[in-house]
Amino acid sequence: MKALKVLRIVVPALLLVSASTMAGVVGSAHDITTGSFDNAANTTGQVCVYCHTPHRSVGSTNGPLWNHAVSTVSTYSMYTSPTIDATIAGAPGAESLACLTCHDGTVAIDNISNSPGDQITSPWTPGAAMSGYALIGTVTAGDLDLTNDHPIGLTYDVALVGADGGLEAVATVEATALELFSGQLECATCHDVHDDTNAAFLRITDTASQICTTCHLK
Ligand code: HEC
Ligand code: HEC
Ligand code: HEC
Ligand code: HEC
Repeated sequence: MKALKVLRIVVPALLLVSASTMAGVVGSAHDITTGSFDNAANTTGQVCVYCHTPHRSVGSTNGPLWNHAVSTVSTYSMYTSPTIDATIAGAPGAESLACLTCHDGTVAIDNISNSPGDQITSPWTPGAAMSGYALIGTVTAGDLDLTNDHPIGLTYDVALVGADGGLEAVATVEATALELFSGQLECATCHDVHDDTNAAFLRITDTASQICTTCHLK
C-alpha cells in the first residue's frame, strides 16, 4: 500500500522534470563549451555567455543583451526575385544579425564583450571563426551575400498575405511555434537557437516540409 502511494507521487514529478529539461542549449551544437571553437583557455562551463550577458553587453541591436562581438560585414545583399511581393528591408533585423555575428564567419566564435569572471584583468583571447557547412552566405569585401537564402527582413502582415495569395493568415502563423519579431520574418522565425529537439534547431520539423507549409499554402 505504502509503495503504491509513493509511486503515485513520484511518477508525475518525474514527468514534470523530464518535460522541462528535454530541450536546451546544453549539449546542443550551440553549447560552445563542448565544441572545438573555444580557445582552450576559455573554459568556464557557462553556455549563455557566448551570446548573452547580464552586464556590459554590446547592446540589443544585434540580439537581446547581446554579448558576442558583432560582424565586420557593413552591407548585406538581400533577397530579390521577379515574383517576390514583400518589401525586403535594406539589412537584416536584430534576430538575424545575431546569428550572423557567428554564422558569417568573420568573427571568432568565442569573441565576446563581457568575459566571465574578471574581464578587466583576464579578458578572453578569441579562438577560431566558423568554417564549413554552417556558414551563411559569402562575404566579399564587407558585403555578405544573402541573395541565395530564404528571404528575411520582411514584414509578414495582412497586406502581404493579400498580395501573395499563397500565404497562411498572420494569426494562424503566430499561433504556431514559429515566431515573428514585431511582425518581421528573421532567421529566428524558423530557428530556435536554444532548442535542438528538431534537427537544425528548427521550431517546426521539416519532415514532409511541415515548417514550409505552416506559412506557404502549397
Ligand atoms: C548561440 C547563441 C545563443 C545562446 C548560446 C543562447 N542564446 Fe538566448 N537568444 C539568442 C538569440 C539569437 C535570441 C533572439 C532570438 C530569439 O528570441 O529566439 C535569444 C533570445 C533569448 C531570450 C529572449 C527571448 C525569449 O526566448 O524569451 C532569452 C530570455 C534568452 N535568449 C536566454 C538565454 C539563456 C538563459 C541562455 C543560456 C541557457 C541562452 N539564451 C543561450 C541566442 C543565444
Ligand atoms: C556564438 C556563436 C553563434 C551564434 C550567435 C549562433 N550560432 Fe548557430 N552555430 C554555432 C556553432 C559553433 C555551430 C556548430 C557549427 C559546427 O559544428 O561546425 C552552430 C550550428 C548551427 C546550426 C546547425 C545545427 C546542427 O545541428 O548541426 C544551425 C541551424 C544554427 N547554428 C542556426 C543559428 C541561428 C538561426 C542563429 C541565430 C538565431 C545562430 N545559429 C546563432 C554558433 C553560433
Ligand atoms: C523560412 C525558414 C528559415 C529561415 C528564415 C532561415 N532558415 Fe536556416 N534553415 C531552415 C531549414 C528548413 C533548414 C534545414 C535545411 C536542411 O536540412 O538542409 C535550415 C538550415 C540552417 C543551417 C544548417 C546548415 C544548412 O545549410 O543546412 C544553418 C546554419 C541555418 N539554417 C542558419 C540560418 C540563418 C543564419 C538564417 C538567417 C540568415 C536562417 N537560417 C534563416 C529554415 C530557415
Ligand atoms: C514564417 C513563414 C515562412 C516559412 C516557415 C517559410 N516561408 Fe518561404 N516565404 C515566406 C514569405 C512571407 C515569403 C515572401 C513571399 C513574397 O513576398 O512573395 C517567402 C518566400 C519564399 C520563396 C521565394 C518566393 C519568391 O517569389 O521569390 C520561396 C521559394 C519560399 N519562401 C520557400 C519556402 C520553403 C521551401 C520553406 C521551408 C523550408 C519556407 N519557404 C518556409 C514565409 C515563410
